[in-house]
Amino acid sequence: MEKINPKERLIFALDTPVRKEADRYVDELEGVVKFFKVGIILHTLTGAGFVSSLINKGKKVFLDLKYFDIADTVRYAVRQVSRLGVDFLTVHADRQVMKAAVEGKGSSDLRILAVTLLTDIAASDLRDMGIIDRDPGEVVLRRAKMAFECGCDGVIASGKEASIIKEETGGSFLVVTPGVRPAGAAADGQKRFVTPTEAIRAGADYLVVGRPIKNAPDPRSAALKILEEMDQAYKEIEV
Ligand code: C5P
Repeated sequence: MEKINPKERLIFALDTPVRKEADRYVDELEGVVKFFKVGIILHTLTGAGFVSSLINKGKKVFLDLKYFDIADTVRYAVRQVSRLGVDFLTVHADRQVMKAAVEGKGSSDLRILAVTLLTDIAASDLRDMGIIDRDPGEVVLRRAKMAFECGCDGVIASGKEASIIKEETGGSFLVVTPGVRPAGAAADGQKRFVTPTEAIRAGADYLVVGRPIKNAPDPRSAALKILEEMDQAYKEIEV
């Protein structure tokens, strides 16, 4: 098995509304983190300008905008994203949305990731939505299989569901896992979190980490520590 470089697999969530702060994190993490997630907090004010600045600095970009709209709108919007040079884009795991997104990306290198269930959703939240007697794991798996059928490149799923998704979809379908918490870190509202080691053991291809790095007294060493843990976990699964 080819050796995995953890730096290729750690994605830092740049969840700040302030461009200057985002730039500061990118600089501070130079040489440590190369993949950045830009979500609705940052994108709302900084838009494509900030995304292009990251790409121009040679960074990889995960645009986490979780598109959910009628098919024509999604197709057209995804086509625009595919021209930016972004690596990952999220859409909701509804069939029409996913099909339109796959059409919109065309033959570009953009990878479409479907959001199955948000990682702060628990069974009680599903009941609130009228999804009775289903646990989050079942809903995630059902939606992941649909994403696979629709031609998406992967899903966002918690580490708790990564292994079953991998089993059901085969190797190249990506599992990108947020809600990752190194031992001792605060949960910050995430309900189905796992440690980096657990996520990797479960088969997660990429780990998304936000607050455990962002709120650390020293974000650079927090990221380095996570990379070390990831490296150990990869060694373990490679043998
Ligand atoms: O700060 P934290 O490590 O919890 O950040 C996780 C990031 O992943 C956030 O940007 C959040 O929006 C995102 N995310 C998630 N669960 C999903 C999809 C995205 O936590 N299912």
